[in-house]
Amino acid sequence: MQENDYARKIKTYIVSMPSLPTTVAKVMEICNNPKTSPTDLDRVISLDPVLMGKVLKLINSAYYGFQNQVTSLVRAIIMLGVNTVKNLALNTAVLDKLSDKSGFRALNMEGFWRHSLCTGVVAKLIARKRGVDAQHLDEYFAAGLLHDIGKVPLNNILSNEYIRAMSLADRERIALYLAEKRTIDMDHAEAGSMIADAWHLDGPIADSIKYHHSLDVYEGPNEIIVMAVAAADYYANREGIGFSGCLYPEKLDPGIYEKLGISKTWLEEIDSLVSTEIEKASVFLNIK
Ligand SMILES: [Fe+2]
Ligand SMILES: [Fe+2]
Repeated sequence: MQENDYARKIKTYIVSMPSLPTTVAKVMEICNNPKTSPTDLDRVISLDPVLMGKVLKLINSAYYGFQNQVTSLVRAIIMLGVNTVKNLALNTAVLDKLSDKSGFRALNMEGFWRHSLCTGVVAKLIARKRGVDAQHLDEYFAAGLLHDIGKVPLNNILSNEYIRAMSLADRERIALYLAEKRTIDMDHAEAGSMIADAWHLDGPIADSIKYHHSLDVYEGPNEIIVMAVAAADYYANREGIGFSGCLYPEKLDPGIYEKLGISKTWLEEIDSLVSTEIEKASVFLNIK
């Protein structure tokens, strides 16, 4: 198969993927308006009982750790903030579309999502360490959780080529995204960027999907969050938490630690915290 046939195949697949539910698109849209109130958001989410049920289930999970059960959505939005609930709704919808086990052929699905959870959790821990306000912590989590979604179409429709890319990466001890480029002529950041465009995702989540392997060319307002995702991704790969198909991640530029205000030692010391947080966050994968 010609290399550009691969790109065409991926594009066709992404275009034909079911879009995010209208409610979620609407949630994203109204939350872009800084004047949106908890009642506005409540009104939109309440239109979709399935989404509302999932959102309430997550809010009452160990991930948020509230003492008492929260049964009113508007109350939950007041407690967590509009931005947090927006990210929660988005995660739910994306995972709903992409966490189908049957499509996974080359990469192991459990391993892949554990890698994604770990990246989300560590990105959030970095944000917390930086003193990011509660409203924006889950943006780091969502960006980390979704950073590798471009691997889903590569893995699902070009499974044989993807297995070849993974073995090339192992054989030559290079990062998987470089092996993807050589095997398929497209890497998962590009494929992810097509998904982000198709689903009208923007802001830090889309930027993290697109640039987590090419920080040096990123120019935009979300540098810190993209860097946090890249550092968290590196951590997950190096510690072997989950499996992203990448055994030889590129070393992080020391300038990144400096800009993030974290040290390598700090990253080495968070191990036990990371596993507790992953257990709490795993509710996101079991929400169906
Ligand atoms: Fe990646
Ligand atoms: Fe990754």
